Amino acid sequence: FDVVDLIRSKRDRNELSTAQIDWLVDAYTRGYVAEEQMAAMTMAIFLNGMDRREIRDLTLAMIASGERMNFDGLGKRTVDKHSTGGVGDKITLPLMPLVATFGVAVPQLSGRGLGHTGGTLDKLESIPGWRANLSNDEMFAQLRDEGGVICAAGSGLAPADGKLYALRDITGTVEAIPLIASSIMSKKIAEGTSALVLDVKFGSGAFLTDIERSRELARTMVDLGNDAGVATTALLTNMNVPLGLAIGNANEVRESIEVLAGGGPADVVALTIALAREMLTLAGQPDADVEAALADGRAMDTWRRVIRAQGGDPDAALPVARETHTVVADRDGVLVQQDALPFGIAAWRLGAGRARKQDPVQHAAGIDLLAKPGDTVRAGQPLFTLSADEPARFARALESVEGAWRIGDPGEPVLDGGPLVAERVS
Ligand code: URA
Repeated sequence: FDVVDLIRSKRDRNELSTAQIDWLVDAYTRGYVAEEQMAAMTMAIFLNGMDRREIRDLTLAMIASGERMNFDGLGKRTVDKHSTGGVGDKITLPLMPLVATFGVAVPQLSGRGLGHTGGTLDKLESIPGWRANLSNDEMFAQLRDEGGVICAAGSGLAPADGKLYALRDITGTVEAIPLIASSIMSKKIAEGTSALVLDVKFGSGAFLTDIERSRELARTMVDLGNDAGVATTALLTNMNVPLGLAIGNANEVRESIEVLAGGGPADVVALTIALAREMLTLAGQPDADVEAALADGRAMDTWRRVIRAQGGDPDAALPVARETHTVVADRDGVLVQQDALPFGIAAWRLGAGRARKQDPVQHAAGIDLLAKPGDTVRAGQPLFTLSADEPARFARALESVEGAWRIGDPGEPVLDGGPLVAERVS
C-alpha cells in the first residue's frame, strides 16, 4: 500500500480495509510510515471516525504489534479494572486487594500520571521500597502466590500504542473515540485478562466531559472486549467533583489504607464496592460479601502481602510535605461547588503531577479536602489544605482553584453532577 493513498482515503471519509489497517500499524511500528504521515492519519480519523469493524481491526493490529500475555497456567480466573482517569481516583489501591481476597487473580497493569489526572504507579511509589517494574515471570509468580499485582505495563505490550499515544498527545488527537478505545483495549486484551471492568468517567475532571461521549466510549470498549473473548462491562461514573478527600500521591495511599481499614470517605468506599461487585460477578462470584472483607480486615491483609511482595514496607511512614497552606470558608453556609478539574490542576501545580513524561513527581505534594459539596460550613472553618515542598508553588495552585468552589445558602442546589455511578453498560 501507499500510505498517502490511505490518508487520502480516510480524509475523504472512506473505510479502511482490514489489510490496509494491518499494514499501516505494522509499517508505522517499524518506522516505515513517518510520524507526520501518521499524524495526518490520526487527524483524519479524529474528524471522520471509524466504524465498528475498523475499530476492531485497529485494536487487533495494535495487539499484534507486540507480545500477548497468558494467565491460563494460574488456575484462577483473572479480572482487571481500567479507569479512564480522574481527580483523586485511587480506587485501584483498595480494589485490587479487595477482589484478590476472593481467590480471583487481579493483574493491574497501571500507568503514571500525565497532566491533571494522577497515575496509580506514582501514588504507590510513595511507599518506601515499593517497586513498579516487574518482569513477566515476577508478575506471574506474584499473581499465583498473592492473587494480585499492580505494576507497570512492560514495553512489549502493544508497542504501536506507545508510539501512537505520544504522537496523539502532541497533535491534538487524543480525544477521538476510535483512538481511545483501541488504545485502552489493545493493552488490556494483550495483557491476557479473562474479564475486565471499565470505569468510564464523565464530568469536568474526566477527559471526555459529557456523558453522551463517555457512553459511546464505554459501548465501543465493551463491544471490543466481548468480541475478543474478554468478558467486559463498564460503569459510567461521575467525575465532576474530586473522588474522596485526598488528591496527590502519598495522601491518596493514606486514604486507600483508611478504606482497607473499614473507614474512608463514603464516595471512595461506594465506588470501590460497586467495581468489586462488577469484577466478582464477571469472575463467577455475584454473591461475594465485599463489605465484610473490608470490615473484617481480610482485604487489608491482602494489601499488606502484595505491597511487601513488591519490596514495599506497609508499615513505613509515608512522606509529608515541608509546607502547607490552608484555605478557610469566607462565610457561613453550604459548600455547593467543588469542581474536579481546577482542583486536579492545582494538585499538579503543587508538584503531585508532571508536565513532561520524564519529570519526577513530589510524593508528598497535593491537596487534602476538609469539606465536600453538601457540607454545612462556618466562616473561618478550614476547607482544604495545599501541601508542597516548595512554598513558591502555592500562588499558582491557588490561582487555579479560584472560582472552583463556592459557599451558598442552605437549600441552594449542590453542583455535584448527580449520582456517583450513573449507568452500567454491558
Ligand atoms: N488512556 C489510554 O491508554 N489511551 C488513550 O487513548 C486514552 C487514555
